[in-house]
Parts: sequence; C-alpha cells; structure tokens
Amino acid sequence: MKIDSFVTSGKFRLDGNEWDVDNNVYILGGKGGCYIVDPAHNAERIYDEVGDRPVRGILLTHAHNDHCELAPEIAEHYGVEVYLHPDDQPLWEESNGDAHYTPLADNQTFTIDGEDVVVFHTPGHSPGCVVLYIKNENALLSGDTLFNGGPGATGRKYSDFDQIVESLRNVIFHLPPATKVLPGHGDQTTVGAEAERIDEYVERGY
Ligand SMILES: [Fe+2]
Repeated sequence: MKIDSFVTSGKFRLDGNEWDVDNNVYILGGKGGCYIVDPAHNAERIYDEVGDRPVRGILLTHAHNDHCELAPEIAEHYGVEVYLHPDDQPLWEESNGDAHYTPLADNQTFTIDGEDVVVFHTPGHSPGCVVLYIKNENALLSGDTLFNGGPGATGRKYSDFDQIVESLRNVIFHLPPATKVLPGHGDQTTVGAEAERIDEYVERGY
C-alpha cells in the first residue's frame, strides 16, 4: 500500500489556550482509491497531495481540533464519510458542533489496495483515540497515542496517563517490535524502541 505523509502547520486549541503545532498528515492508498488520515490545517495542500486519486473516506485518530477540524469540509469536497471513534464525541462537538461522522469500532477493518488496515481503540490521550495497523506494511499510524520519545500528552482534559500506558502495554506493544510507528506529530520510531523505554516513561509520568 502506498503510504504518503507530509507536514502541515497550524494551531492546537484546548482548555482555552492555543499552541503552534506541526501535524503529520497521511494518505493511504494509490490510484485504486485512498483514505486521508487526520487532514490537518491546510485543505488546499491536502487536495494537492491527493492529486487525482479517488478518495474513499477520512479516518481520524482522535478529535483534537488539529486532527479533526477540517474533516467535515474535506469530506464534503470529496463526497465521503468521516470515521471517528464515538468516545471522542465531546471533543468533536467543540470543533465541529453537530457535523456528521460515522462511528469507528475496535478491530474494524478497512481494505485499501487489497491490504487490511485494522483499527485498534487505544484510549488515554483522549477517550476515543485509535491507531491504524497495516500488517502488510509493517506500519502503525499511531496518532497521538505514541510518539518517538513516549506516550501522547495526558495533561489536559479528557486525558488519562494510566489509561494510555495500559493501551500501550495491552495493545501496541503486542505488535511486532520492528513495526514502524508513524505518529501524528514528529519523527517515526518503532514499537520495539518505545516498548523498551516504557518503564522510564512510567517513572517520569508522561
Ligand atoms: Fe491530540
């Protein structure tokens, strides 16, 4: 499966504050049809990157505004659905009001270019966080659940550090250690490199 990624820049807003942020946007699939994962900040850039590929849907790893706020506009542009885990409903409403989305479920599978993309529910950074596992590509789109250097942030509302550690230990760290981790922000890492450091992350508390 073709996996493209690029970076867009904008604002992350929560709890009445805002921060500058760079997001990794992913496009899964080629000329046979693609899904856009977390289309952040810049719709024109995303349309350019998609090019002439038919778009099948928008997959969201969670509903923080930087990941989700353009999704309704882009879904309408292509005439496709937005997919989001319903446990992020309160965050979704903050960005997108009563805009429609289709609920994702744990273990749901999408087929792209004949390969499976499996959704795992990994709460902690937010209640409805998911990751997308592409076994054939040895790759995990980890959203904000796992970064190069540790778990996603859990200091703000709707986050829970113990829960994110549980999601890492019970779900993500069961994947093969060589699995490439493609996160929502920053550099790639691997499941194995991060699993080795989990005790250190728990000790420091973030
Ligand atoms: Fe986030």
